[in-house]
Amino acid sequence: MAIPVDEGRFLSMLMKIMNPKRTLEIGVFTGYSLLSTALALPNDSQITAIDMDREAYEVGLPFIQKAGMDNKIKFIQADAISVLNEMLSNEMQPEFDFAFVDADKDNYKNYHEQLLKLVKIGGMIAYDNTLWYGMVAKEEDEVPEDMRTARTVIMEFNKLISSDPRLEMSQVSIGDGVALCRRLH
Ligand SMILES: C[S@@+](CC[C@H](N)C(=O)[O-])C[C@H]1O[C@@H](n2cnc3c(N)ncnc32)[C@H](O)[C@@H]1O
Repeated sequence: MAIPVDEGRFLSMLMKIMNPKRTLEIGVFTGYSLLSTALALPNDSQITAIDMDREAYEVGLPFIQKAGMDNKIKFIQADAISVLNEMLSNEMQPEFDFAFVDADKDNYKNYHEQLLKLVKIGGMIAYDNTLWYGMVAKEEDEVPEDMRTARTVIMEFNKLISSDPRLEMSQVSIGDGVALCRRLH
């Protein structure tokens, strides 16, 4: 389930260009994308990483520790929608420079609304899998049946973000697609 290496390199370079202080990751799994970004961030930065599955995170944690990156990471084991709602209801709302979303596709549209309040103006949100293994470019009858529902969800999400006046968007054809969104207002 981890992102491919070329996408890890891409995120790493993006972090070095942006130099963000506070980032958010939704969907950690064993922590490959998390470690790719952590290694590229300055020492005083903090990543809030959310996943319901602590067991998977703990598989990768020794590698994160060996790389000396655990001090940059605050892992939260929970459903991400609830964590973001809690952040939004807090008087001292956090502000993130960058967010990487690689979790339940059905909730991308919900994360989007929450993140447009939690990510700073000028900050970036990156959504993974937005080309859904290339299936978004195929006719429905060419798509394996078990991929059709998620393909429809992703296609609707792409439509939503490409016409959202609150951001500018670029669909990057790496891995199986990363939609980069920069918050405008
Ligand atoms: C594709 S994996 C993430 C892979 C990771 N970004 C990487 O590259 O190594 C998706 C993860 O999202 C988590 N997830 C799915 N729905 C979630 C939710 N509602 N809240 C938090 N985590 C969720 C799953 O537990 C799973 O570990």
